Amino acid sequence: MAISGNKEKKTFDTGDLKVPVSLGVIMDGNGRWATQRHLPRTAGHKVGAENLKELCRNCVGYGVKYLTVYAFSTENWSRPKGEVDQLMKLFVELFDKYDPELAEQGIRVRFSGDDSELPQKVRDVCRTAEERSKDRPNMQLIVALNYGGRREILSSCKKIAEQVKAGEIEPSDITEKMLSDNMYLPDVPDPELIIRPSGEMRLSNFLLWESAYSEFWVSDILWPDFGYEELTKAFRDFALRDRRFGGLSKKESKK
Ligand code: IPE
Ligand code: IPE
Ligand code: MG
Repeated sequence: MAISGNKEKKTFDTGDLKVPVSLGVIMDGNGRWATQRHLPRTAGHKVGAENLKELCRNCVGYGVKYLTVYAFSTENWSRPKGEVDQLMKLFVELFDKYDPELAEQGIRVRFSGDDSELPQKVRDVCRTAEERSKDRPNMQLIVALNYGGRREILSSCKKIAEQVKAGEIEPSDITEKMLSDNMYLPDVPDPELIIRPSGEMRLSNFLLWESAYSEFWVSDILWPDFGYEELTKAFRDFALRDRRFGGLSKKESKK
């Protein structure tokens, strides 16, 4: 499919690429992007938020089925109140404003995280966005909002502990699958690839359980500038990865 008219000419030709079914993106670098331009950090968050639409278009174009984006971590509350308030305001504005475009692309929106700490307005917008998009077929956009991998694992453990307390299972019955089944969105496949713009080589509490065998791809480009070209590069590199899952590579195991 060739799409032009945007900044870059896009082909979505998957010839030498591998497109993951499930992709995670840590949308990092908004603050640095703004600071480099002598703008307030919040200006970077606005441009970063706009760029999410671009990522969605590109992922739908390439045929990604699940896109999980890290929008706000359980640790991001430690930022100055003004920045946190601006981010919350942006979330409220965004998911209404983006809906026509998401609808056109057939994107279902879901949220992952501890919503009990989010302002009521944000929770309402999230629920509405989920409800009105639930039958859209092309891709699921999972927004990790007040998300922390450790908190998610903890919440899964608590749910299982309740089952033990109720006498439904014994501690020795607990399996890895049970932990997976009690995560926030158990039907979403583990990400095959996680992309982090802005050069940081860490997960920052993103999808700790689910990323056990994810491939990691880091780019120096800051999130607001991360576009089609970088995504294509990531998918091209992903095609070259030898995913062994603790076993041997295909070549070796044939010997
Ligand atoms: C990511 O950009 C957005 C959020 C964490 C909400 P940052 O705000 O972390 O940008 P840098 O890392 O300071 O450049
Ligand atoms: C991770 O970025 C969280 C999001 C992108 C939402 P941070 O900027 O919070 O991560 P650290 O602090 O550099 O590890
Ligand atoms: Mg950051």
